[in-house]
Amino acid sequence: MQRTLHPWTIDTLPWGAFDAETVNPDLLKIVKAAALVEYNAGDYASYLCNVFADDAAFCHDVKAWAREETQHGAALGAWAMRADPSFDFENAAARYRAGYRINVDAAASIRGSKSGELIARCIVETGTSSYYTALGDASDEPVLKALCRHIAADELRHYKLFFSHLKRYNDRDGLTRLQKLKIGLGRVQESEDDELAYAYYIANAPAGAAYDRLPYTMAYMARAYPLYRPDNIERIVAMVFRACGITLSSFTRTLIKHAAALAMKIKMRQARMLAASI
Ligand SMILES: [Fe+2]
Ligand SMILES: [Fe+2]
Repeated sequence: MQRTLHPWTIDTLPWGAFDAETVNPDLLKIVKAAALVEYNAGDYASYLCNVFADDAAFCHDVKAWAREETQHGAALGAWAMRADPSFDFENAAARYRAGYRINVDAAASIRGSKSGELIARCIVETGTSSYYTALGDASDEPVLKALCRHIAADELRHYKLFFSHLKRYNDRDGLTRLQKLKIGLGRVQESEDDELAYAYYIANAPAGAAYDRLPYTMAYMARAYPLYRPDNIERIVAMVFRACGITLSSFTRTLIKHAAALAMKIKMRQARMLAASI
C-alpha cells in the first residue's frame, strides 16, 4: 500500500483542544454509528481475501487497509466517548457485531466478478472520503474536525488503492461500461441497507427499542445528508463515474450533480418527517 504522507494515531490527535461546548448532538449520533461500521472492517478484509485468494499482493494491501479502517472506528469511538461519557464504545461494537455480520466465507464476489467487487470498494471509499470531508467542515469541535481531516485523506487514498487494483482486473473481466455503472449505482443504493441503519440503532436507540430498518435509515439520513455541499456532491459524481470507466464532460457532471442534489434533498425531507425524534 502507498504510504500515508501524514501518519496519525489516536494518541496524536489534539485531545487537549477538545471542547465539549461545541459538540453538536446530531453529529455525535452519526459519529457513533460511523464508528461501529468502521470498526467492523476486519470482516470485509476476510471476505475480500477469500474472493481474491489467488492475489497475494491484493490481500497484503487489504490487510493494511483494514487496519486503517479499524483505526478510524476506534478513533471515532474514542471521540464519541469523550463527547458522551455514557457511551460504551466496545460494548456497542460487540452488540453491533452480534446483530450484523457479512458472509466472510463467500468464495466468489457477490458482485459477480473481481472488477465488480473493486468498483464497489471504490464507491464505498468515494462515499466515505466525501462524508468525512463534509462532517469535518460541519463540526465546530476541534478534535472531530482534525480527526475527520485525517480520515477523509485516508479514504481518498483507499479509493486510489482499489482503483489501481481495478485497472489490473478491468481487461481480464471485460465488463461493459453499462455493467460497471449498474454495479456502481447498485452499491450507492446499498447505503440504505442494514449496515448503517443498524449501527445507528445500536449507538442511539433507547434500551428496549426494537430495530426497524426504515426509521433508523431515515434517522441517519436526516442528520447526514444536510452536511453535503454542492462541491462534495460534484466530487462524488466524478469519482463514482470514474470508477465505472466513464469520464464525464463538465456539462454532464454538472447536470448529474444537480439531479443528485435534488434526489438527496427529497430524501432528506422524507427522512426529517419520518425520523425527527429518533
Ligand atoms: Fe474508514
Ligand atoms: Fe476507507
